[in-house]
Amino acid sequence: MPLVGGGSVLALLVAAVALVATSAPACRAAHNITAILAGHRDLAEFSRELTATGLADDINGRNTITVLAVDDANMAPLKARGLPRGTLRHVLSLHVLVDYYDDAKLHGLPGGSADVSTLFQASGDAPGSAGMVEIADRRGGRVAFAPQDAGDAQGAAVFYVKSVHEAPYNISVLQVSGVMSSPAAEAPSSSPESASRLDFSDVMSKNGCGRFAGLIAATAGASAAFDKHTRDGLTFFCPADKAVEAFEPAFKELGADARLAVVLYHAALGHYSPQALRTSHGDLTTLASDDAGATVGFAVHSVGGKATLVSATHKAARVTRTLADADPVAVYMIDAVLVPFSFTANASSPPDLGPSESDGRSGRKDGGDGRQTSSSAPGWPRRGWVASALVFTTLLAAFASG
Ligand SMILES: *[C@@H]1O[C@H](CO)[C@@H](O)[C@H](O)[C@H]1NC(C)=O
Ligand SMILES: *[C@@H]1O[C@H](CO)[C@@H](O)[C@H](O)[C@H]1NC(C)=O
Ligand SMILES: *[C@@H]1O[C@H](CO)[C@@H](O)[C@H](O)[C@H]1NC(C)=O
Repeated sequence: MPLVGGGSVLALLVAAVALVATSAPACRAAHNITAILAGHRDLAEFSRELTATGLADDINGRNTITVLAVDDANMAPLKARGLPRGTLRHVLSLHVLVDYYDDAKLHGLPGGSADVSTLFQASGDAPGSAGMVEIADRRGGRVAFAPQDAGDAQGAAVFYVKSVHEAPYNISVLQVSGVMSSPAAEAPSSSPESASRLDFSDVMSKNGCGRFAGLIAATAGASAAFDKHTRDGLTFFCPADKAVEAFEPAFKELGADARLAVVLYHAALGHYSPQALRTSHGDLTTLASDDAGATVGFAVHSVGGKATLVSATHKAARVTRTLADADPVAVYMIDAVLVPFSFTANASSPPDLGPSESDGRSGRKDGGDGRQTSSSAPGWPRRGWVASALVFTTLLAAFASG
């Protein structure tokens, strides 16, 4: 095992990571909305959008919650509107009530109705009480759900169809007749700042980084972490599809925490314009940081107006294109996947590719990390206490928020 080459600090950290990793499921909420919905084929689109908007993570991180699910047929009109990701997230977050309501509770509402807060309200983006939903037990036992800001608008309410999943008082999933319509949630975001916010996932998908956008969507915790920081400035470095393709087999071998670390490692805190990037020398801080402020980054070297990133493991990736630059977010394409830790399973003979050495290798730009790992199983880093700390602190962050 890789521990033999490391000092006691490394051993301690790795042990801590292992400990935390094994105990994590018990500490987190006991449910997984994706797994719950997986048994219901007609709710597949709803489930996909919860994942794509990062809401699945929020749901899994909470207890005492009710999800109002909509079947594929009734999701179609929403899908057809092609709302930007942020708006879609607002609309769907209106369908997550932050209280537990199952079939029995719906039909026994004191006074026949209740006002319930939603994740839209919790997001802080809902003006006034726009993130509240009224549940009303109407004549004939029909239960209606309507957003408070919808007023008496015809068709604003949706109706209870059936109970899909009940785990009192942790999570309940109720199917409703359609997507709730709310002016506040559907308005292109009410604050001008967020209205103009760049949809990085869209930019990547349309410009040759679709595979990386896919990794973000498929990695638990990634979207939520990015969303949390886009307001303050983020600079994405997305590896081109070809590099991600070569890396994917190795990526699949990694544990969930290592996958999250790899994905988060491709976004630097702060907005770097092309000009700023070309003239910057030194370290950029990535999204990985702990409560104490310790962060893990990579170095930027610029020569002749061309920037090269060098990872904590001394692998280089060239910045090949600017995909978008809209303060506070910028998206660049790079020609290799950056990994914050070494993949070698053998601590005594790790490959030691310095930046200059690896720069001279012609094949590296097609995903050198992926090719290197194909012959050896992923393991913990040799000189990667930094990487261990990264994964460790990522876990800490996951705990703190969950
Ligand atoms: C939730 O379940 C889905 C499908 O079973 C799985 O792919 C995903 O990794 C799970 N997420 C977590 C955080 O366990
Ligand atoms: C609710 O969650 C708690 C802890 O997260 C767990 O112990 C309990 O079994 C859960 N209840 C149900 C009905 O799933
Ligand atoms: C590690 O590398 C050394 C030298 O290349 C080799 O002799 C040894 O068998 C390797 N160990 C493992 C576990 O692969």
